[in-house]
Order: sequence, then C-alpha cells, then structure tokens
Amino acid sequence: MCGIVGIVGKTHAEQIIINGLQRLEYRGYDSAGLFVSDEKQEHLVKSQGRIKNLQEKLTNEVNGTIGIGHTRWATHGKPSEENAHPHTSQNGQLVLVHNGVIENFAELANDYLAEENFYGQTDTEIVVNLIASFMEKESLSTKTAFQKALSVIHGSYAFALVNKEEPETIYVAKNKSPLLIGLGEGFNVIASDALAVLDQTHEFVEIADNELVTVTADGIVIEDQKGEIIQRDAYQAQLDASDIEKGTYPFYMLKEIDEQPTVMRKLTQEYRDDQGKVNIDKDLVEEVSASDRIYIVACGTSYNAGWAAKSLLETVTQIPVEVQLSSEFGYNMPLLSERPFFIFLTQSGETADSRQVLVQTNRLGFPSLTITNVAGSTLSREAKYTLLLHAGPEIAVASTKAYTAQIAMLAILAQAVGKNKNSKASTSFDAFHELSIVATAMESMVDEKDYISSLVEHYLSTTRNAFYIGRGNDYYVASEAALKLKEISYVQAEGFAAGELKHGTIALIEEATPVLGIITGQNTGAHTRGNLKEVESRGANTIVIASEELARQEDQIILPTVHPLLTSLVAVIPTQLIAYYACLQRGYDVDKPRNLAKSVTVE
Ligand code: M6R
Repeated sequence: MCGIVGIVGKTHAEQIIINGLQRLEYRGYDSAGLFVSDEKQEHLVKSQGRIKNLQEKLTNEVNGTIGIGHTRWATHGKPSEENAHPHTSQNGQLVLVHNGVIENFAELANDYLAEENFYGQTDTEIVVNLIASFMEKESLSTKTAFQKALSVIHGSYAFALVNKEEPETIYVAKNKSPLLIGLGEGFNVIASDALAVLDQTHEFVEIADNELVTVTADGIVIEDQKGEIIQRDAYQAQLDASDIEKGTYPFYMLKEIDEQPTVMRKLTQEYRDDQGKVNIDKDLVEEVSASDRIYIVACGTSYNAGWAAKSLLETVTQIPVEVQLSSEFGYNMPLLSERPFFIFLTQSGETADSRQVLVQTNRLGFPSLTITNVAGSTLSREAKYTLLLHAGPEIAVASTKAYTAQIAMLAILAQAVGKNKNSKASTSFDAFHELSIVATAMESMVDEKDYISSLVEHYLSTTRNAFYIGRGNDYYVASEAALKLKEISYVQAEGFAAGELKHGTIALIEEATPVLGIITGQNTGAHTRGNLKEVESRGANTIVIASEELARQEDQIILPTVHPLLTSLVAVIPTQLIAYYACLQRGYDVDKPRNLAKSVTVE
C-alpha cells in the first residue's frame, strides 16, 4: 500500500527518494509524487501511474537537500495527479505525505476549514490545511500546530511534513501505520519500510504511535504527546539490499516460488537446537499448551495458510483450532473459550484488519503470538510473542513463500506444544525430518516449470473462469490456489469443497470450463474423483493434481509423497506456477497485479 521515503542532509535527495519509492513499488500504488528543496529552489512533482512517469518529469536542475516522496494507493479520491501526494496547504507553505486513513476528515473540514476550497478529494489535503490553519490563526510553530492537529485527528497515519520556510527539518508522526527513522552520517532518512532506504543506512530507530519526531541532518528528537523527550536506541536492520534483487529472474514471484525449499530448510535451522529439539521460547510453548482453544486470525493467503495448518495443529497438539478472518472476527467476535490463545498469521506484520483484532485481544488480556516475516513490524511489536518466518523479503504482491513458511512454522510450533503436552501424535511427528522431505518434494515440483507452462497453455490460456476443488486439506489448498490464480491472471477462479459443487455451483460448469482437482487425502480422493467425473460429464476440462500414492496414470500432475499432514506444502507449488504462467501468458504484470497492494494497512 502507500509508501513514504524522505531524506534531509544529502544532495540529490530526489534521486534517493526515487530509488526508495522504486523499492516500495511492490507494495502496490497508483500514483506517486515528491517534494524536494535545495534552499534556493523547490520542486513538487506528481504523476499518475508508475514511478518512471515521475522520474521523467524531473529535470536535471533539481538537486534537493531535503525531500519527501510518496506512492499512493487510492482510498479517498480516485487515482489522479491532483490526489497524489505530497499535498500542499493553500498558503503554499506546508507539504505533507500521508499513509493511512483519517476517519474524521469530513468533520475536521467542517469544524476548522469550512471556508476553504480543496483541489482534490483526499483526507490528507484536509490535514495539511488544518496544520496551516492552526499555525496562522493561533500563531503556532510548525511543530506545535502539527501536534495540535494530531490531537484532533482520528484514524491511522504515518505523516511526513515539511515547512518550506524550514528547509532543514522533516516532522514525522505515526499512529497504526508503519514509519521508521534511518540514521546516517550527516543525514537522516525516513521510510515506511526499511527496505526503501537500505542503500543509505542499516541503522534504524522505531517510532511508537502518537509520538512526534523532528528530523534534521544532525539528529532526531522524539517527543510523546505531552512533549516529553524520549530516548530510544537504534537497531541494526538484519536485511541485505541484495535480498531484494531479482537476480536473473524475470519476476520476483518466480524467484520466491523457487526459494521455498530453501525457506523450509532455513526454518529448520532457525528453530532446531543442537539436540534436534524445537528451540522456541518455553513461556510461549507453555501458554499455548495451557490454552483450551487456538484462534488463528488472518487475511487472504495467510488465512488460507491457517486453514491448511488447522488439522496438523489439532492432531499434534490436541487443542481445538478455529481459523478466523480478521476483518470479520474483529466486529463479530464469537463466544470465546475460557482460555483462548490467539495466533496472528501475517506475512507483513502490518495488516490493519488483523491489527484491530490484536488491539482488542490485548485489551481483553488474552495471550497472543504473531507469526510474521517482518521483524519489528507492528503486529510483532504488539503481540506478546513473535515467531519469525525467516523467508527473506517477499516482494511479489502474490504471496507464495510466506504461505508455505507459515504452515511450516505452525508445524514446528505444533511439535513443541505436542511434546510439551505429551500428546500421542507428537511422538510420531518429527517436524524437522518431515520438512526436509517436503523441501526435496518442493524442489522436484518447482523443476516442472516448462511442463506446467504447457498445461496452462492448453487448458487455461483463454478461459474467463476456473475452479479448484478438493476435500479436507485439499479444499484449503484449492482456496489458496484459486486466490493466486484470480489475483494475478484475473481469471474468475473459485476454490470449492468438492462435495459442495453439486449443491449449486455445478450450474456454472460449461463446455471447456477448467476444473482442477487436488487429491492427496486417503479417505477423500475417491470422492473428489467422483466429483470431477460429474463436471466432466457436463463439459468441463478436468486437471488432476494427485499425490503419488493416489495418482492414476492419466493424472496431469503427480506430487511426491510427504507426511499426510503436510501435503498442502507440496500441492500448492504447481498451483502457484499455474497462476504465474496464466498471468504471464496473458501479458500482465506478475509482480504488481492491478488494484492490489502488498501490505494492506487500511481496514
Ligand atoms: O501481510 P499479511 O499476510 O497479513 O497479508 C494478508 C493478505 O493481504 C495477503 O495474504 C494477500 O491475500 C496476498 N497478497 C495474497 O497473495
């Protein structure tokens, strides 16, 4: 979603900002803009569409020493140049970029800015004018006016503000949306994601909600709401700029699909001690073991990963598991068990829908764990425990390696809890051993690229719709497979419980509709095959993805054998490749699908 990059104290600020915004492109955006100033000249440039459009508008004369830039994913107001950030106050003095949503922007406009006209439709334009009006009407300094504006704003935000008359200072503040300060020698940077400025620094300082930070070339001053100065140590980002390079791959998604066997092995390395036992915080294991129900709360692909791990967790830990959509759960919380334990699955650790649930469960005093790929992310900081996925940055909007890493992480956690509870199933389940078999199986599947590409060409190259079906765990993989296909190839794909088709959805089957059946369940395979026959007799083209022991000669994709509780980890690989090639063959941008953002920081 929206991205922020800013710098003060270095020449050619515009280039640093452009580079940073390009690194944030993967998060999804529809317009971009930047403001830079070199004390003599100011440049405010905005454009709709890609950052290269913005770059083309910058002339060689620009050489800023301070600047703020932004990529916008439209929420209030259509994607357009006028709605792109930075926004300027009507007196021309202040420029502001903003990530997040101001919920009471209409009231603010009404209460404080009734006489003003606005050039766009964004909530951000209201905020910049609100600050300017506090400065003018109450003769306040920039910082005090900013602080006052923050006190009346409701919603989520990461703001970076520059007063053109103070071209040596960036004021920043955040609430719910991420923002970091990066420290340099003689300069400082700000960014909504450390990845954006790794070419400038690896040393970062976190900002907490409701703090205001004054950033100059020589230092930063963090203040809380009362104006008290806060000292906070910097930390070193454990990320390498090369982690975010595509290398020889045409798209990040393909690279990330290929990385999955390595991620399985990395997780084993990270969580296994010298004796081969699971190395996870004992207090965490105790708290999960003491719970009477695990609630997995997540969105999108992470939600699908929760389902894929449900029966594994239940079998090995002997604790019932519920999987819930964050955006529903937060507003319709069911009757909870007596000793619930909450697991937030989130690749980015920033998803606003999940965060609002965590805020509530924290308020209710329930223990929580965030499983995330991003150390220091908001949900990681706010949950009682964190387990990191160690999958390396996932740049493609379509999540692949985070999905499999989440399931594998839950398998490792399940083993620790099962052992702690002495559950019968945990004695025969060695997560590390099973994951090493999975890694090898994944390798053989990712090697099938050419074959899968030809299957896609044959069955899916022009279709408008497609169905994935399966039962049990295969149904959960079908849901993820369909999500992947629809989000990047725009094929209207649905994942269905195979037995449910005949209760309604079978009406949609037409001549040559592709129906892909996933068959890895010993007790369900025959039934799913029966359901495939039903659609075949109504004209569908069926494609079978089956595990070795259940496969028939005519099946199109055969999966190597892995532990029955971990089949999703392997079955999903061909479906990721199917989505990839369906997108590629249609000529769409694999890594940046339309309308989507990598990190969804609005509810
Ligand atoms: O960062 P999160 O895992 O919390 O994100 C949740 C969803 O937005 C995300 O999984 C989304 O569905 C993926 N882009 C799908 O590929």
